[in-house]
Amino acid sequence: MISVALMGHGVVGSGVAEILTTHKQKLFSSLGEEIYLKRILDLREFPESPLADRFTKDFEDIISDREVRVVIETMGGLNPAYDFTKRCLKEGKSVVTSNKELVARHGAELLAIAKENNANYLFEASVGGGIPILRPINQCLVANEVSEIAGILNGTTNFILTKMINESMPFDEALKLAQDLGYAERNPEADVEGHDACRKICILASLAYGKHIYPDNVHTEGITKIALEDVEYAANWGGVIKLIGKCRRLPDGMMDMVVAPMFVPCTSQLANINDVFNGIMVRGDCTGDVVFYGKGAGMLPTASAVVADVVDCCKHLKARKRLFWVDTQGEECIADYNESKTKMYIRLFADDTTAAYNKAQDILGGITCLERTNAPQCELAFVTNEELTYGTITKAIEKLESLGFKKASAIRIGDL
Ligand code: HSE
Repeated sequence: MISVALMGHGVVGSGVAEILTTHKQKLFSSLGEEIYLKRILDLREFPESPLADRFTKDFEDIISDREVRVVIETMGGLNPAYDFTKRCLKEGKSVVTSNKELVARHGAELLAIAKENNANYLFEASVGGGIPILRPINQCLVANEVSEIAGILNGTTNFILTKMINESMPFDEALKLAQDLGYAERNPEADVEGHDACRKICILASLAYGKHIYPDNVHTEGITKIALEDVEYAANWGGVIKLIGKCRRLPDGMMDMVVAPMFVPCTSQLANINDVFNGIMVRGDCTGDVVFYGKGAGMLPTASAVVADVVDCCKHLKARKRLFWVDTQGEECIADYNESKTKMYIRLFADDTTAAYNKAQDILGGITCLERTNAPQCELAFVTNEELTYGTITKAIEKLESLGFKKASAIRIGDL
């Protein structure tokens, strides 16, 4: 029997407790030993839980328990999760987490502490919910040079965008629904402003390239400014709007990274990924494109990935999994996003749309207009014909605004 402890009995944590209980026999068959959930740390009371006698409010009950070999951290947030994780690893206890904020911020340090103490720090559930993605990148695709990773990495925003696209549901209503279904972060700003997707693409990039990529250095835009009008123009262009996290290795070794809403053509494998589903494309030099698809959020899908890591830790109590990347603090590894090239969709308001069209054509060097039914006379929407640097596009929009044309939206065209 291997004793484990759980820190945080929220959406994911309670799912972990549930799977460890309901799938006890299945897990026993895989491991050859019982996984015993000995302690559960949470400040709240759960008197109705069948595991009520195992709850504690004191972390010391876990850290001081020598029988506990694996600790599951599903508290979320940086504090006290960071501190507790460090202490567990320093005691030689392996830690499994779904906490992408912590991994994206302190992954290099925590992996180094795990290595020093011959313990494992595993976090499959931090990216893509129930989708196996970190282990495949780290193991199955290890023979490849990965040139690019791009994906829909946030279930909440994909759910909201799907509702906006398919049902013309207003943003706020769709967000409320996502929260009620347990998909959203405690603070949904992390979802809708793109920070959650940013943390996930940073974890993927760190793993694929072996260097810690810090989220603060990645240009990130959310979906709060997307209007139903943009959704309609995207449909008439031949695609859908998705929040995409992307990283690409440039020939000089720098990383071209962005998190932003993009027009995705219907021909792309990412265009048909709807609701809370995530889809991640990994481009390997030997395999070509490999696409991972599944539920990216929700209690049981995420808990399933956590429990798989627990089993892996239990199977490797005396051996380390080779999951590692080096720290890069103070090092520049991300290219200037203003130099990154893209085609762009732009929607403007103008008293004279013919004049706005002519000016945009001059400044941006070739544009194609888009249409939608019942567009007001003062609206002009177009896509650039050529890829331009983001810096050039920003300056062009500033120039158009200085001429009295008001920008309503600007959304990248995804090369996906
Ligand atoms: N809030 C996250 C999402 C949860 O919607 O994707 C899973 O990481």
